[in-house]
Amino acid sequence: MKAKIAVTPGDGIGPEIVAEAVKVLKAVAEKYGHDLAMETHLVGGAAYDQCGDCLPEESLAACKAADAVLLGAVGGPKYDKLPGPQRPEKRALLTLRKELGLFANMRPAKVWAPLKSASPLKPEIIDSGLDLLVVRELTGGVYFGRHERAADGQSALDLMPYSVAEISRIARVAFEAARKRRGRVTSIDKANVLETSRLWRETVTRIREEEYADIELDHMYVDNGAMQLVRAPQHFDVILTENMFGDILSDEASQITGSIGMLPSASLRSDGFGLYEPIHGSAPDIAGQDIANPLATILSAAMMLKHSFGLTEESDAIERAVGRVLADGILTKDLGGTVKCSEMGQAVIERL
Ligand SMILES: NC(=O)c1ccc[n+]([C@@H]2O[C@H](COP(=O)([O-])OP(=O)(O)OC[C@H]3O[C@@H](n4cnc5c(N)ncnc54)[C@H](O)[C@@H]3O)[C@@H](O)[C@H]2O)c1
Repeated sequence: MKAKIAVTPGDGIGPEIVAEAVKVLKAVAEKYGHDLAMETHLVGGAAYDQCGDCLPEESLAACKAADAVLLGAVGGPKYDKLPGPQRPEKRALLTLRKELGLFANMRPAKVWAPLKSASPLKPEIIDSGLDLLVVRELTGGVYFGRHERAADGQSALDLMPYSVAEISRIARVAFEAARKRRGRVTSIDKANVLETSRLWRETVTRIREEEYADIELDHMYVDNGAMQLVRAPQHFDVILTENMFGDILSDEASQITGSIGMLPSASLRSDGFGLYEPIHGSAPDIAGQDIANPLATILSAAMMLKHSFGLTEESDAIERAVGRVLADGILTKDLGGTVKCSEMGQAVIERL
């Protein structure tokens, strides 16, 4: 298999963690005989420092021309004074998502057996199982509807539009993902109040009946969903939800695992192209100290192999190697160990 990956390390710990993921991707390519071309491009504050723009034209063009993008993280206190639209998170991240047409955000959240004690949930709840995937619609809904403030400043409105086409394409992503997992989708909405949610529920139900009869589907109101995530997380396999509910629920789901340095994500388009990044930020407080945990980025690279390149065996091999690293007690500082960021890539490679 031959593919071109745009590597965008970004700011803070971004370059340190991405370097480890690149090492692992190179080792996988060698072991399985793939040709993965990786080129590094500037994004975020690092790009602003060099060219006065957090997303230079060259970087955007390189991401568009690639088969997938591996991103570290962007932002940091140095750039907080920039005007909103020029800030790394807005200019680089939101523009990339929009320009690349990434409508499906996937965030797996699971508790790794050796890290159970990091979860804020009671051990008996963790023991019953927490291994789920949040599939969030990323380019529609209230974040992209009309936003207005009345002329007298006394009222405001935000519109929440959704079309059948938008709901159908994200529903298919969730059903496909469930087929590769435990075969169950829970669609979360607020159909007792919102018309968009009623359209969401009808559409998801129809897509399941017509195309995915092998997948189990249930529906939940978002208030109940938020509660069940901490009360009975084992209920969930794939959670399918719209943009704003997904923003909130995916943060809740990731926090209940307790280890921010372990959580990968993918933002996808329907042709398989995707942008892969850890869910955490640039961690300026620990940047340059070689103590960051690169496993979320390494697991994001594993998601890339599976979702963009169809390399399921290679992806699973990385996940298993990460599991062994943890079981062997090879832990970075955030997990209570002393292993350096720059040692983690090699530790994973040795277990591949
Ligand atoms: N996708 C992104 O690029 C992204 C996402 C979130 C935040 N940010 C930006 O990152 C900057 C810092 O944000 P923040 O401090 O709120 O969140 P953060 O995720 O960067 O850090 C929160 C805490 O978790 C720790 N942490 C995060 N990742 C870690 C890792 N891999 N290993 C060990 N410890 C880790 C940090 O040291 C910090 O104490 C801000 O500028 C923010 O806007 C970027």
